[in-house]
Amino acid sequence: MEATKQRQPEACEYMPSDYFDRINPHDIFGNDAPIEVDLGCGDGSFLIAMAQQYPERNFLGVERLLGRAKKVSRKAERAGLTNCKVLRLESKYVIEYLFPPKSIDRLHLLCPDPWPKARHHRRRLVQQDFLECLYTALKYDGEFCFKTDHPEYYEWVCEEMDQFKKLNQQEWTDDTFFYPKTDFQIQWEAEGKSMHQLWYKK
Ligand SMILES: C[S@@+](CC[C@H](N)C(=O)[O-])C[C@H]1O[C@@H](n2cnc3c(N)ncnc32)[C@H](O)[C@@H]1O
Repeated sequence: MEATKQRQPEACEYMPSDYFDRINPHDIFGNDAPIEVDLGCGDGSFLIAMAQQYPERNFLGVERLLGRAKKVSRKAERAGLTNCKVLRLESKYVIEYLFPPKSIDRLHLLCPDPWPKARHHRRRLVQQDFLECLYTALKYDGEFCFKTDHPEYYEWVCEEMDQFKKLNQQEWTDDTFFYPKTDFQIQWEAEGKSMHQLWYKK
């Protein structure tokens, strides 16, 4: 029987050698610099701007759509970035099964799908089991940044975080740190929507 041919990774794409084992974060970039993960990185504009701003840190985007993941990789390659890669996979799987405990410095979840219909709420990423996985994967002083334009999803996340209790909310204003707007944020603000943001530390 003919063996299945594996797709070759793009230049700035990270493909684990074994999708069923924990990765060694060192293997992603070949160094042990702090690592930030952007779940659902979309067109990668936030990820790339962060990687350009912080060359001493590593940035991994996670995106389930192959076309988007390829575009992000090509943008990072064109920008000559060695600290920016994309992993084409499902967000929760990456946090739950691939990253080892205490390995991520900062996790970004920006403008995720709000799943507004009540029957779809169980698809929302921010739930207690996700928060447990996130807590385990964060380093001892790791951080979690969340943004949404959706008021009801914002309330949902506030309630989930209150119930979870193990991450400590921080005050986050626009000048707290460099934090470029994402592609979706720019689109939504242009439509007159306002953003809600939350920042937590372990
Ligand atoms: C609304 S867009 C936001 C993109 C980007 N964060 C921004 O703010 O511009 C959501 C992105 O997350 C991706 N996505 C949705 N669910 C995902 C999942 N479970 N795992 C990985 N990516 C996911 C989508 O394909 C899409 O690119």
